[in-house]
Amino acid sequence: MIILKSEKSALQAYLKTKGWLKPNEIVTAIEVPGKGNMNFTLRIKTRNRSFIIKQSRGYVEKYPQVPAPEERVLREAEFYNLTGLHDHLRKQMPEVYGIDIENHVLQLEDLGTGTDYSFLYEKNNFLAETELRPIIEFTAYLHRSINTKTTATRLANRPMRQLNHEHIFVYPYLEENGLNLDTVLMGLHEVGQRFKNDLALKKVIAELGKRYLSDGASLLHGDYFPGSWLRTDHGFKVIDPEFGFFGDPEFEIGVTLAHLKMAAQTNDLIQKAISIYKEIAPLDVILCEQFIAVEILRRILGLAQLPLALNLEERMKLLEEAHSILV
Ligand SMILES: Nc1ncnc2c1ncn2[C@@H]1O[C@H](COP(=O)(O)OP(=O)(O)OP(=O)(O)O)[C@@H](O)[C@H]1O
Ligand SMILES: [Mg+2]
Repeated sequence: MIILKSEKSALQAYLKTKGWLKPNEIVTAIEVPGKGNMNFTLRIKTRNRSFIIKQSRGYVEKYPQVPAPEERVLREAEFYNLTGLHDHLRKQMPEVYGIDIENHVLQLEDLGTGTDYSFLYEKNNFLAETELRPIIEFTAYLHRSINTKTTATRLANRPMRQLNHEHIFVYPYLEENGLNLDTVLMGLHEVGQRFKNDLALKKVIAELGKRYLSDGASLLHGDYFPGSWLRTDHGFKVIDPEFGFFGDPEFEIGVTLAHLKMAAQTNDLIQKAISIYKEIAPLDVILCEQFIAVEILRRILGLAQLPLALNLEERMKLLEEAHSILV
C-alpha cells in the first residue's frame, strides 16, 4: 500500500499512475482544505482545476497511535454510489472522480473554500431558518429515498460503527478512561463522575448502543453534524459520510439536534427542524430525544470534544436535561 505524502513530485507521480491527471497536467499547489482528524485529505491544484484526494489509513491521521478501520474511505465511496443515483442528493455532495481500491484513496470534486458550520458553536451565531431547511431536508430525503424498501444494496460499515459505538456508548462511562475532564473545563471532571456512577443511566445507554449496532431501515450519513456541512458559493453541501450505514433515522436526527442544542440554538429552531423533517419523512420523536441525550452526554463527557462556548453551568444544564430524558 502506498502511503501518500504532502509532496508535489511524489503526488504527481501517484496521480499520473492512476490516470487522475491528464498527460501534460502538472500539480501547481497542494493545500490542506480544512480541519480534519481522521484521514489524509488534500486539495490538489493544477493550472486549470483543483480536486480533493482523501486517503484512509489504519490509524487516525491526527493521532497515529490510535487505530482506525483502514478501508473506511471505500465505505464512503459506497455511500456516494448510493446517493449518486438520486439527483437531489447527488447535487449536494462532491462528485467522485476516482476510487483507488488498493490504496484506499478517493479523488473528489472540490466544493471550494467555503467554511463548514462549526462557527455555530461560537457565541451568538444563530442559524437562519432558510439555512436550517436545506440541512434538514437533505437528511430527510436521504432517509426517504434510500432504504431497505427502495434498494437491495446494504452498507453495514461494522468496523466504523464499532468504533463510533465505543466513543458514544462506552468510553464516556468508563471509570478510568484516561481523560481528565478538568483539562477541558475546570470542574467538569467531578460532574462527569456522577454520570459514570449512575447504573440506571448506563443501562439505558447500553440498550441504545445495541440499537445503534443493529441494522435499521434507512441509509444514514452517520456523522451528520456541523463539521460535515459546508456553506459554499453554490449553496449547502454535505461531505464525509465515512460513518454511513443503514440504521434508525432517529439516531441521525438525534445527533443533528444535539449539536444544535450544544450550539445554543433556540428551542424554536429545534422544533422547526423536527417539523421540516416530519414534512418529508416519519420520525419517532421519543427515540429521537433519547439519541439527542446520548449525543449531548458523550460530547460533553467523552473524548471527541467540540469547541463549545458553554460554561460549566450551561453544560451541567444540558447534561441534566439529557439525564432526565433517559432515566
Ligand atoms: N470535496 C471537498 N471540497 C472542498 N473541501 C473539502 C472537500 N472534502 C473535504 N473538504 C475540506 O477538508 C476538511 C476535511 O475533510 P473530511 O471531513 O472529509 O476529512 P476527515 O479526515 O474525515 O475529517 P474528520 O476527522 O472531521 O472526520 C473538511 O472539513 C473540508 O473543509
Ligand atoms: Mg471524517
